[in-house]
Amino acid sequence: MSGPLLLSIESSCDETGIALVEDGRRIHANVVASQVALHAPTGGIVPEVAARAHLRWIVPVLDEALETAGVTVRDVDAIAVTYGPGLAGSLLVGINFAKSLAWAHGKPLVPVNHLEGHLYAGWLLDPGEADREAPGFPLVGLVVSGGHTFLVEMRDHLSYRLLGRTVDDAAGEAFDKVGRLLSLGYPGGPAIANAAERATAHDRVFPRAWMGASYDFSFSGLKTAARRIIDEARADAGLPADAREGPLPDAVVAELAWGFQDAVVDVLARKTIRAAEETGARGIVLGGGVASNLALRARISAGAAARGIGMVLPRPGLCTDNGAMIGAAGARRLAAGELAGLDLDARPSLPLAR
Ligand code: KG4
Ligand code: ZN
Repeated sequence: MSGPLLLSIESSCDETGIALVEDGRRIHANVVASQVALHAPTGGIVPEVAARAHLRWIVPVLDEALETAGVTVRDVDAIAVTYGPGLAGSLLVGINFAKSLAWAHGKPLVPVNHLEGHLYAGWLLDPGEADREAPGFPLVGLVVSGGHTFLVEMRDHLSYRLLGRTVDDAAGEAFDKVGRLLSLGYPGGPAIANAAERATAHDRVFPRAWMGASYDFSFSGLKTAARRIIDEARADAGLPADAREGPLPDAVVAELAWGFQDAVVDVLARKTIRAAEETGARGIVLGGGVASNLALRARISAGAAARGIGMVLPRPGLCTDNGAMIGAAGARRLAAGELAGLDLDARPSLPLAR
């Protein structure tokens, strides 16, 4: 073993994730219990339901992770845990569990910012995957998830300068809301991406909010426009305004999904590439659930390649919340000597830069 083995715990939102990661890179196990099915009937996350689900699943998830990696808690060098940002009740389950393990086994406890975890997911290697070289600093990082959308400059590991952020909704939130308007179910992101793949016509244009020359984003106007465009499409199809009284034809849903996705991808990709060019970045880091979107990945990767800019791109399964990304960031914090005491508390609004 070349570096410390971390047991890392993620419970900030609606996924219970526990991983074993060596040296902040090599995944030995990465088990995620998703609550998607649990939250689908309400079309969104009910915080208390999420917290109770973490409580129910955290021990079985730990057992499976240890079994997969073939280790016991005694074998690990430290325990890393997400302490914010996120839902307080959900965070408390993971933090309390991590503390109990650290106390009972006499292991150091490493506090990890969830957003930093998303940024470090791209450095992870799957079991057996060949090592790949990451571009050097400076880097520009785009985090796009259900709760966050922002661009940062990284001049070194663990160092962040905020370039821009959403002034209203997160990109994932917009996907989820428009997914509901199109009756595509929860979560909207993957459902819209799938529907967009089936589009045969590509001429429904949704508005883009450029926010001047800034690196900020805004998605609430797009959401309002989507409602209007969907209403118009229903009227054109001779359907009543209420979606429960008849679904839009599949082909129209696909066209609308494509138009919406294209608007989000266009803004995210252009701003990220411009930020990389203007800051002289050698690479672009993507993270967060929306970074699993294939159209976004392809657009940013192509723009970066055309300019000789490298990519730090996690595979789609590591973009959404998981424990391994917490182990990746946690190893860097451990190396920097940043440990938490057993009085560690949840920080629901923790910013990225400490
Ligand atoms: O990072 P994540 O798992 O949780 C948060 O920290 O928020 O991100 C979840 C978000 C949801 O809004 C979901 O709709 C979106 O990521 N998402 C996607 C895709 N897969 C997940 N959005 C667009 N395209 C996808 N393929
Ligand atoms: Zn997340």
